[in-house]
Amino acid sequence: MIQEPRELTALAGSWRGQGQKIALVPTMGSFHAGHLALMHQARQCADQVVVSLFVNPIQFGSGEDLAAYPRDLQRDMELAAGEGVDVLYAPTTSSMYPAGFQTTVRVAELGRGLCGASRPGHFDGVCTVVMKLFSQTQAHLAVFGEKDFQQLAVIRRMVRDLDLAVDIVAHPTVREASGLAMSSRNSYLQDDEREQALCLYRAILFARQKVKGATQPLSAEVLRREIEGNIGQVPGCAVEYVEIVDPDSLERCETVQVNSRLIMAVKIHDRVRLIDNARLFEL
Ligand code: PAF
Repeated sequence: MIQEPRELTALAGSWRGQGQKIALVPTMGSFHAGHLALMHQARQCADQVVVSLFVNPIQFGSGEDLAAYPRDLQRDMELAAGEGVDVLYAPTTSSMYPAGFQTTVRVAELGRGLCGASRPGHFDGVCTVVMKLFSQTQAHLAVFGEKDFQQLAVIRRMVRDLDLAVDIVAHPTVREASGLAMSSRNSYLQDDEREQALCLYRAILFARQKVKGATQPLSAEVLRREIEGNIGQVPGCAVEYVEIVDPDSLERCETVQVNSRLIMAVKIHDRVRLIDNARLFEL
């Protein structure tokens, strides 16, 4: 494990000097099968795989779960080693944000709506730390999960806008057998809440069924309201947003298009905030 940014940068520089390809998997730890799938994919694409493990304080708002965020470094180290990760990079907060730190990377539009509306500044925190991680690891490619679809779109925009030489590789959402999208925050759910949390996956199945059965272009707004209504009927579930959007601009679609994405955030018992998304036309 490496904790010191300068140590990692020096190592990455020597890998680069030897012509080796570097892949980064940025994480906040508390690994589950979704993270392991990202590591597995990175392993296929590069000579050196760095997994960063950093619970980034600047992407949490006040009143969010920064202090409670699950942490288990020993277990994470073992799981990463099992996936053939070369370096687990776990910097301290003071080494990432030393006294005097004052730079923010902001993707203005894409980070504002959806999750950005209820988590102001969240994507600024994500972009700033990801930019630092790209720079420290000198990665040729970075693997992100589609589960955080807005994050993926924001990072892709940042890479294009800043001409970064990093390929962004998207990995499909990994689900539990029930359909629940893997998330570190699932550990906050009690048994009955796990059942309620399935409203997200059921919404995806419902929407896909509607799309499959449609004989003419479907109104995205009508479908969106139906989904919102269905989720609203599940006890303990409150919709934060349900949208059907273009996958690049994240702008609302008028009708459901071939590449339209259903994207949702739901609060379970006003305590656990879960997100999920999916393409509506199955490939
Ligand atoms: O998706 C996450 O776990 C985090 O947002 C990331 C990309 C590691 C940045 O802290």
